Amino acid sequence: MLDVQKNTSLKPYNTFSISVDANYFAEILSDQDLIDVLKSDLIKQQNLLVLGGGSNVLFTKDFEGLVVKISIPGISSVVEGDEVIVTAGAGVVWNDLVKYCVQNGFAGIENLSLIPGTVGASPIQNIGAYGVELKDVFKSCVAYEIATSEKRIFNYSDCRFGYRDSVFKNELKGKYIIASVSFALSKSANVNTQYGAIQEELNNKGIADPTIADISNVVSEIRVAKLPDPSTIGNAGSFFKNPVIAKDNFELVKAAHPNVVHYPAPDGKIKLAAGWLIEQCGFKGIVVGRTGTWKNQALVLVNHGNATGEEVYSFSEQIINDVNAKFGVKLEREVNIL
Ligand code: FAD
Ligand code: EPU
Repeated sequence: MLDVQKNTSLKPYNTFSISVDANYFAEILSDQDLIDVLKSDLIKQQNLLVLGGGSNVLFTKDFEGLVVKISIPGISSVVEGDEVIVTAGAGVVWNDLVKYCVQNGFAGIENLSLIPGTVGASPIQNIGAYGVELKDVFKSCVAYEIATSEKRIFNYSDCRFGYRDSVFKNELKGKYIIASVSFALSKSANVNTQYGAIQEELNNKGIADPTIADISNVVSEIRVAKLPDPSTIGNAGSFFKNPVIAKDNFELVKAAHPNVVHYPAPDGKIKLAAGWLIEQCGFKGIVVGRTGTWKNQALVLVNHGNATGEEVYSFSEQIINDVNAKFGVKLEREVNIL
């Protein structure tokens, strides 16, 4: 029987630690819970918000409606020759899945170590870090349509993954709830060390022939050094996406700012390091009231204690305006604003 709570604080359920309330709150522990809630009268009368670990949201006001927190557990695997198909419930903590795979020698997601949040949210923005994106290992996911409670399987091509993007952020935004995700991993450890900082760290440690456990450790160390821990300082990781701009536009930026940090992107476009742009505007590590940017990573906005979502949001507006004025580049928020 589904337990629906009333007037629930969402502070423990968002890593920004913003203090807002929801009218109704229900935790979903199985596919059947999900079907039950989708068929219930409550859902037809209320706005719905699907929440995993709350590590990519900024609440700017109380949520008027029903929050469903997805906590569907379970990890299983099927070995097929060199390939392993690993399936995890949407509520599994992403890093627990990474640990399970590393311990079992299943290669493919070790570069995504220590990303907060749940398995179910991982396809939404096609999580990525240190040279790997979710799309590189995604096989399929099971989701339920909110309007009809019908089950649908999404394969790779259905999801239309892009940089921090998928069909779930576009045409199908707010239409489906993901219940489980399957990944195609490998039993032979073809480690990916293309991201500069990984190779540097391996060299420092004298590791010439890294295992997936080595990669996981090194990535975790780099992340801990660079990013604030949400259990002590509220944040949602990168607040903005790295802007991807046309080559012509890039040439203009580079002419005025020869040191601009950039990378090649698909279709001949160029990706700029938003952290660099923000730092150049003098924002790195600054404190603005109860919000600010992180001292080691200007792309991360933080809650220094009891900040409201509106304060954080309005600070993000200031950053967007200043970066646009200096570089002619419009930053886009990566975090979901609610
Ligand atoms: P939530 O914040 O709960 O939800 C995010 C969005 O997905 C919302 O729109 C929500 O409605 C939707 N959603 C959640 N679960 C489901 C579901 N089951 N079905 C349908 N919709 C759902 N991200 C990266 O890509 N790379 C990084 O390196 C990275 N580093 C981070 C570091 C820190 C310190 C923090 C705090 C965040 C970081 N993030 C990073 C962002 C975040 O971890 C990811 O976006 C993560 O996938 C969010 O998972 P979640 O469960 O917390 O999602
Ligand atoms: N930089 C600065 N100043 C800063 C921050 C960065 O100059 O304050 C420059 C540096 O030159 C640095 C470069 O930007 O070398 C890139 O920085 P970093 O390696 O930290 O990566 P990022 O581009 O800032 C992206 C993702 C992260 C992911 C890392 C590692 C986005 C929006 N962010 O950050 O994802 O962990 O790469 O792959 O793509 C997230 O999405 O929440 C997130 C943390």
